[in-house]
Amino acid sequence: MLKLAIALAAGVLLAGQAAAQERPSQAVIDAYLHSTFGKASPEWQARIKPDETLAICNTMRNNPSSAQSDEILKREATRVTYPADGKFLGDWKKGYAVANNGRGGQFSDPPGTVAGGNCFACHQLDPKEVSYGTLGPSLTAYGKDRKYDAESVKDAYIKIYNSMAVVPCSNMPRFGVNKVLSEAQIKDVMAYLFDPESPVNK
Ligand code: HEC
Repeated sequence: MLKLAIALAAGVLLAGQAAAQERPSQAVIDAYLHSTFGKASPEWQARIKPDETLAICNTMRNNPSSAQSDEILKREATRVTYPADGKFLGDWKKGYAVANNGRGGQFSDPPGTVAGGNCFACHQLDPKEVSYGTLGPSLTAYGKDRKYDAESVKDAYIKIYNSMAVVPCSNMPRFGVNKVLSEAQIKDVMAYLFDPESPVNK
C-alpha cells in the first residue's frame, strides 16, 4: 500500500513536470523576446522579426510539413549569392580563424568586432583539435572524402551560405543570408574544408 502511494505520488510529480515543460504560446515567446531587446537600437530590434522561413520554423517547432519544406527549400535557394569571381576557395589558414571564432552577433560587442562562424561549436573539423561540438556531423577529411570534387565544393558553399537551402529549419546558422560572415570569410572557411593542405584533410 505504501509502495502504491509512493508510486502514485511520483506519477503526479512527473505529470506536473511534464506540464511545466510544455512550451508557451508563440505570442508569449514573442513578447518575452521583445522585452529582452528593450534597450537595443532600432536596427537590432528589427532582427528579432523572423523572416518568412523562420516564422514557419518557429510555428512548426522546426518540423515543417512537406509542402512547407518544399516552399522553404525553393525560397532559400534563391537567396544564395555565388562569388562574383566564380572562385569558392580562399585561404585555409584564415578559414581556421573563422571556424574557431565564436565572437560577434551581440549588441554588447565593441564596434568593429569581426564575427566568426563558430563551426567548432557544432562540428569536428581538424582531427587534432580536442574540443568540438557534435550537434552537426563531423567534417573531418571533408574535401578528401569528396575527392575535392567541384560539385561537392559548390554544395558546401550553398550549405554554409544558406543552410536552409539544403535542410529546411536547419539548426545551422544561415551565415551568408544573415550576413554573419562575409563572402571572403565563407571562401576562407571553404578552403579550410577543401584545401588538401588544410589540417581538416590531413
Ligand atoms: C549551431 C550548430 C552549427 C554551427 C555553428 C555550424 N553548423 Fe554546420 N551543420 C550543423 C548541422 C546540424 C548540420 C547537419 C545538416 C542540417 O541539419 O542542416 C550541419 C551541416 C553542415 C555541412 C554539411 C555536411 C554534410 O553532410 O555534407 C557543412 C559543410 C557544414 N555544416 C559546415 C559548417 C561550417 C563551415 C560552419 C562554420 C562556418 C558550420 N557548419 C557551423 C550545425 C552547425
